Order: sequence, then structure tokens, then C-alpha cells
Amino acid sequence: MTAPASAPLGSGAMFDPIAHHYDLLNRLMTLGLDQRWRDRLVAALGVQSGLIADIAVGTADVAIRAAQMYPGLSVVGVDPSGQMLAVGQEKLMAHKLAQRVQLKLGIAEALPLIDASVLGAVTAFGLRNFSDRARGLAEMRRITKSGGKVAALEIGRPSGPLAPVIAVYTRLFVPVLGALISGPKQYRYLVDSAAAFPKAREVVAMFEAAGLVDVSATVLGLGAVHLFVGRVP
Ligand SMILES: C[S@@+](CC[C@H](N)C(=O)[O-])C[C@H]1O[C@@H](n2cnc3c(N)ncnc32)[C@H](O)[C@@H]1O
Repeated sequence: MTAPASAPLGSGAMFDPIAHHYDLLNRLMTLGLDQRWRDRLVAALGVQSGLIADIAVGTADVAIRAAQMYPGLSVVGVDPSGQMLAVGQEKLMAHKLAQRVQLKLGIAEALPLIDASVLGAVTAFGLRNFSDRARGLAEMRRITKSGGKVAALEIGRPSGPLAPVIAVYTRLFVPVLGALISGPKQYRYLVDSAAAFPKAREVVAMFEAAGLVDVSATVLGLGAVHLFVGRVP
């Protein structure tokens, strides 16, 4: 399946045709580190029982990790890509987690969840794809109870002595790998959108503008990834 020519980059329609390769590509591109980063994201909420939300849930990797880490936790996941959700639903069945993880079609900018209905909200590699990041963060804040946390994992800009090595890896190897397994367009987008993504301090400001407090940014994977966390006052 190929994406319709009009599929907006980063949209659910762009992810539909790559849904079946998505997990494999993630593991290969991040050298298997992505699951560890997802664990950090889930742990950052500090919630071990009750309901949390995973926005841009995709193939449900974060939701599955969350449910496996904490048996008392339930997750509601939202994503506009029907195909990513279909792959996620198959995985939930295989892991016998379909009772605890519910997947819904929807977009971050208009979440199909009521105010203060979850104890925390996460998004992994989703923020970059929101068509309106400020609105998406405001929505994540709206659905989260007072005192709960909103957390995002996103590709960063590596710094330090290994930065050139990581840059070569992400600019050359990743798109070639992506193009071979999937299509060149989608994975060119991955590299371009990561390069265009705001710097960490700008994302922190975005969290604050969404009304979140005590906002922090933590560097993971030698700067390849950032973890942002804010609290709903
Ligand atoms: C890079 S994938 C991340 C999937 C998953 N969170 C993970 O960790 O693997 C980005 C996801 O964002 C979704 N997406 C695109 N536009 C969105 C929007 N406006 N609101 C919510 N999700 C969106 C895509 O359908 C895709 O599943």
C-alpha cells in the first residue's frame, strides 16, 4: 500500500501504509534503545495504577510497556491512523492486554476524552507529528487530573563528542534503511522533521505555555532523544 499523494506529512494517512513495517524500523533505527526510552517515559508519570492516556499511540508500544510494567494500570490510546491502531490491536490480543488497553481513533488537537479523566498523559515521537503542537499539549493537559503529569519523548539534537557520529547515522543510514524497508518519502520526512523540531528549551516553553508547571527536559541516548515532563497545577 502507498500513501495517497495528498497524505499530509506526519499525518495518520502518512503512517497508514508503513504500519506493518513500523516496529521493525523503530528497533533497527534506534539499535533497540527505543523500548528503554519508552519505559523511561512511562515511569516519568509516576502512576502505577488507574487510567493513563497515550496520545499518538501508533502500534501501541508505549501502552503495552505501561501495562506490562504496572499490572494496576489501564491505558487509553489515541491515534488518527487506522492501520497503526489495527497493528496495535493485534499486538494487544497477542499480549492478552486488550482488556486493559483501549485504542481510539482521534487526533491530539481534539482528544476524544473528557476533562480530567486520566492520571497522566504521554506521547512518544508524537509531538513532532501534531499539526498544532500547542493545541495538542493543551489537550493533553485538559484530560489530565490536577497533580498529574504530561510527558513527551521526542527526537533531539545530539550534542557532545559523539554528535557527529549520531548525525551521520540519522542523516545517512536511517533514511537509507527506511527507504529500503518502506518508502523513501516517509523516512526523508522522519529526518527532515527531526531536524526542524524545536530545540529543547523551546519545547519546555511550549509546555509552560500550555499551562504545565515544573517542566523538565532530560537528555537520553547521548542527546538523540529528549524526555519532557510537566505537571498539571
Ligand atoms: C512516529 S509515530 C509514534 C507512534 C508511537 N507513539 C510509538 O512510540 O511508536 C507517530 C504517530 O503519530 C500519529 N499522528 C499523526 N498526526 C497526529 C495527530 N494530529 N494527533 C495524534 N497523533 C498523530 C501517527 O498516526 C503515528 O502513529
